[in-house]
Amino acid sequence: MKRTILAPSILSADLGRLAEEVREVEALGAEYIHVDVMDGRFVPNITLGPPVVKAVRAATKAVVDCHLMIVEPERYVAEFANAGADIISVHVEASPHLQRTLHAIRALGKRAGVVLNPHTPEEAIRYVIDDVDLVLVMSVNPGFGGQSFLPLVLPKLRALRKMIDASGRAIDLEIDGGIGPENAGLVTSAGATVLVAGSAIFGQKDRGAAMRQIRSAAAG
Ligand code: DX5
Ligand code: ZN
Repeated sequence: MKRTILAPSILSADLGRLAEEVREVEALGAEYIHVDVMDGRFVPNITLGPPVVKAVRAATKAVVDCHLMIVEPERYVAEFANAGADIISVHVEASPHLQRTLHAIRALGKRAGVVLNPHTPEEAIRYVIDDVDLVLVMSVNPGFGGQSFLPLVLPKLRALRKMIDASGRAIDLEIDGGIGPENAGLVTSAGATVLVAGSAIFGQKDRGAAMRQIRSAAAG
C-alpha cells in the first residue's frame, strides 16, 4: 500500500507560534499542512483567512491544503491562490455552481478539492469527478476541532474509493474529523489516502510519537 499522507490541521496548533509549529510537523514528515478556513456562516465558528495562509506558505515547502468552510467560496478562491494555497477545497453544500468553481481553481494553477459533509451522499460529486484532484470526506460536522469520528461515513468512503478508481486518475481521498491512531486503520482500509488530524497531532505534546502512531495504525 502507498504511504498514507498526513495533514496536520493548524486549528489545534499554537497560533502564536504558527511558523514554528508548521516547521515542526514538516520536519517530522507531514506532507500536507491543513488550513481550516471558517466564516461563521457556513459553519458556526470563525477562524482564519488569506493572511494566515500566506504565513503558512512562507514557513513551509509542504503542500498547503486549504479547506474552505465558507459560503460563496467562488468569491475567494483567487485570494487563497494568491496567498499560496496548493490545494483549495470547497464544500458541495456551499457552491451551487460547483463545476464552475472547481474549474476556476484549476485555472488559477491550483489543485481543486471538493468536500462532502457527513450527510451528503457520494452521488453529489459523480459528474464533477473529472474536475477534481482531491475529495475530502468530513467525518464530523465541520466547525470545531476535537469532535468524535462518525463511523457512518465509512460506506461513503468505500463508494468514493470505487468512483475514484473507476476514474483512472490519481485523486486524493482525504478524511477529516476525529481522526487518530484508533481509527486510522479503519479509514485507510476503506480507501482514504490523506488523513487530517488536528487534536491527534498538534493537540499532543510529542507530535513525533503521535504521527508515528497514526502512520503505523494507517499501515494496518
Ligand atoms: C473541522 C475541521 C478539521 C479539524 C479537525 O471542522 O475541518 O480539519 O481541524 O480536528 P480534529 O482532528 O481535532 O477532529
Ligand atoms: Zn478541515
